[in-house]
Amino acid sequence: MTTQTAVSSADEVLRLIEKASEKNFLPIIGPYKGRILAEEVRKAKPRHVLEVGTLIGYSAILMGKELDEKAEIVTIEMHRDEAELAGKNIVRANIPPKIKIITGDALEVIPTLKGQFDFAFVDAEKSEYFQYLKLAEGKLRKDAVVFADNAGVFADQMRDYLDYVRNSGKYESHYVQVGGDGVEISVKL
Ligand SMILES: C[S@@+](CC[C@H](N)C(=O)[O-])C[C@H]1O[C@@H](n2cnc3c(N)ncnc32)[C@H](O)[C@@H]1O
Repeated sequence: MTTQTAVSSADEVLRLIEKASEKNFLPIIGPYKGRILAEEVRKAKPRHVLEVGTLIGYSAILMGKELDEKAEIVTIEMHRDEAELAGKNIVRANIPPKIKIITGDALEVIPTLKGQFDFAFVDAEKSEYFQYLKLAEGKLRKDAVVFADNAGVFADQMRDYLDYVRNSGKYESHYVQVGGDGVEISVKL
C-alpha cells in the first residue's frame, strides 16, 4: 500500500512538472528520454546514484521511483532556488530512496563526495560533462552506468566527453537517439 501511494504521488508530481514545462520551458529530461533513464535505473538497480544537475527534482524523482529505500541519490545543483524547489517536489513525491541535495558547483562538490557510485546521471553544463566525469571517475564502481543527457543536440559542446567515453577503452558506450536529441549510455569497464 505504501509503495502504491509513493508511486502515484511521484507520478503526480512528474506530470505537474511536465505541465509547468509546457507553459514555461524547463530543461527537464522529459517523459521520452526519461523513459530510457528509468529503464536503465530499473536494469542496473543501483544503491548509490550521483546526479549532476538537479534543477527542480524531475529526474531525481523519475530515478527514485525505480529504487527502494536502501538506495541513495546524491544530486548537485548550483542554484539555491532550484535546489529548494527540488527539495519540496521530492518530499511531495514521497519516493522510497534517501535523496541528498547538495547546493553548489559540481566542479567543487564532486571532489568532496565520499563513497562509491554505481550509477551517474550527468545533466548540467554541457561543456563541463568531461570534467564532471574525470572528477567522479575514481568514485565510479566497475560496471557503473553513466547516463548523459543531450548527447544529440549538444554533441559539439560535449565532444571531449563523447570522444572519451567512446574511445578511451575505459567505457563501453552507445548513443540512443530519442526524437531530435539523444542520450549517451556508458558502462565503466
Ligand atoms: C538541464 S538542467 C537539469 C535537469 C534535470 N536533470 C531534470 O531532468 O529534471 C541543468 C541544471 O544543472 C545546473 N548546473 C549547471 N551547471 C552546474 C554546475 N557546474 N554545478 C551544479 N549544477 C549545475 C543548472 O543550474 C540546471 O538547474
